[in-house]
Amino acid sequence: MCGITGYIGYREAYPIVVKGLQRLEYRGYDSAGIMLFDGAKAQVSKTKGKVADLEEITLQSPEKKSGNIAIGHTRWATHGVPNDVNSHPHTSVSGDLVIVHNGIIENYDTLKKELISRGYTFQSDTDTEVLINLIEEVKKHENCKLGKAVQIALTQVTGAYAIAVFDTKKPNEIVVARLGSPIAIGIGKDNSEFFVASDASPFIEYTKEVIYLEDEEMAIIQVNKEVAVRKVKDDSLTDTKIQQLQLNLEQIEKGGYEHFMLKEIHEQPKAIIDTYRGRMLADEGIIKMSGVDDHIEKFLNADRIIIVACGTSWHAGLVAEYLFEDIARIPVEVEYASEFRYRNPIITEKDIVIAISQSGETADTLAAIKLAKSKGAFVFGVCNVVGSSIARETHAGAYTHAGPEIGVASTKAFTTQITILLLIALKLGKEKGKLSKSVFHSYLQMLQLIPSKIEELLAIDGQVKHIASIYKDVPNCLYLGRGFNFPVALEGALKLKEISYIHAEGYPAAEMKHGPIALIDENMPIVVIATNKGHYEKVVSNIQEIKSREGKIIAIVTKGDITVKEIADHVIEIPETEEMFTPLLTTIPLQLLSYHIAVLLGKNVDQPRNLAKSVTVE
Ligand code: AGP
Repeated sequence: MCGITGYIGYREAYPIVVKGLQRLEYRGYDSAGIMLFDGAKAQVSKTKGKVADLEEITLQSPEKKSGNIAIGHTRWATHGVPNDVNSHPHTSVSGDLVIVHNGIIENYDTLKKELISRGYTFQSDTDTEVLINLIEEVKKHENCKLGKAVQIALTQVTGAYAIAVFDTKKPNEIVVARLGSPIAIGIGKDNSEFFVASDASPFIEYTKEVIYLEDEEMAIIQVNKEVAVRKVKDDSLTDTKIQQLQLNLEQIEKGGYEHFMLKEIHEQPKAIIDTYRGRMLADEGIIKMSGVDDHIEKFLNADRIIIVACGTSWHAGLVAEYLFEDIARIPVEVEYASEFRYRNPIITEKDIVIAISQSGETADTLAAIKLAKSKGAFVFGVCNVVGSSIARETHAGAYTHAGPEIGVASTKAFTTQITILLLIALKLGKEKGKLSKSVFHSYLQMLQLIPSKIEELLAIDGQVKHIASIYKDVPNCLYLGRGFNFPVALEGALKLKEISYIHAEGYPAAEMKHGPIALIDENMPIVVIATNKGHYEKVVSNIQEIKSREGKIIAIVTKGDITVKEIADHVIEIPETEEMFTPLLTTIPLQLLSYHIAVLLGKNVDQPRNLAKSVTVE
């Protein structure tokens, strides 16, 4: 949560940092702020609301937009309501030091009391204002420079932080540090300028060279000097690794679509191809995945697979439970990372833990990984963001290569996660002798057809939009599915509630009779996934039961279906495929349905209220 960015160099910093903040708004958008150093003093502008609101207020004060050094922030509120005062940047009592911070200082209350006893006063309710005053106190007490003061102060805090700090009395540097929240440092040509950000998106048009700080690392960034990364704990130098960015500008722009979410829905055919590219050689009947191949004995001898994830990624994990058990005959447990981490779970060295996360930064998933590792489990990561904390924390893994997902509602992350998990399940199924060579080969051929089938499905957008216009004003909605499509029902409900704020629940279709059926009347739409394989007849019976109670059925069926068509109020057809691949198709109309309902209701689809893309706090 929260995005931070900064610039130091020879260009005007304001447009760079403001554009950077816009790209980071997926991390939170409760408030926005910027500090510019104009050569004489620090100019701070901040406001409740979005980066666009910040631009609005700075429009009136051009003097606050000039300077070659800036730090900026876009906030997802933790301590203190979203208002102007609690917005970042925060300034120390003397006015000398300025900070932007992503994370939570857990012992802020104790530190605050201590600082108050020494005469410090506070304007805001934030933990960040405590941190900047702690740094100021250390600087005064030790009579040291900013870098040293930051280093000492950070040894006194518990919690998580990614910070950028500036000292108006020594205005030639920005000090950055991280623990639990990401920091990327972009390096300009010959060290003539530097960029700082929560991810690399704010600076991709300026440089491809980046350093990702590891936990408990810090750096003092000065123009014309190489970046030296140090350990917060003891100030020792680390081996600085400069990486080459793979990201390009096109990937993080809307490309003609009205919303990122719509763009990302439409990107799924390509994203899935990018996920299996180079890994699945369908014609030769081979799946190559170095993260699995290098540890194949562990996978083949695993007693159990435990999947940990949150939200949509957890839903992908549930699909994987069906896949691994069905195809590879390995027992699977799927856990909410937030529960798993505090449950004293039984984990052995013969367990494989698979952590799924689009962002690779989800705090609970990260904590679950650390717990599993401490108990001796082998941990495999399925992440989208290259170089993310989870990707680095796991023993091995596979990137989904879906490209940046900016809409807060996950779409292509879900289908590409399922694709990776399918590849692993198929590979293990074959290696364990559970799938014959010819069956394995034919599955690969079928998987290769999925992207074009999604293209076909995307063409029915108009039909889905029409259904959306009929149901956009309902207060509640139910989603039902069975087997591989039960998690899709959960995911469909999550998509609807998070972007349209309509209450929605997903259930296994057979569970309906155990409670949810009481909700059904003539006003209740029920989205039922009733593809022709698996439990088709049983789901048809559920549809009959709903119709007898006058519920409205929106059914997702296989092309050519006759039975459901006669009973349902609306049917959306998906192309024929093998049952295990159906989640990759049935998901698409559910994404479109939520999208259109939210747009018709005038909601902010890409930045729904109260949410943030990466949940980097508990
Ligand atoms: C889904 O639309 C949400 N944005 C959310 O549930 C998300 O999937 C969850 O926070 C997990 O994020 P991660 O995949 O980045 O770990």
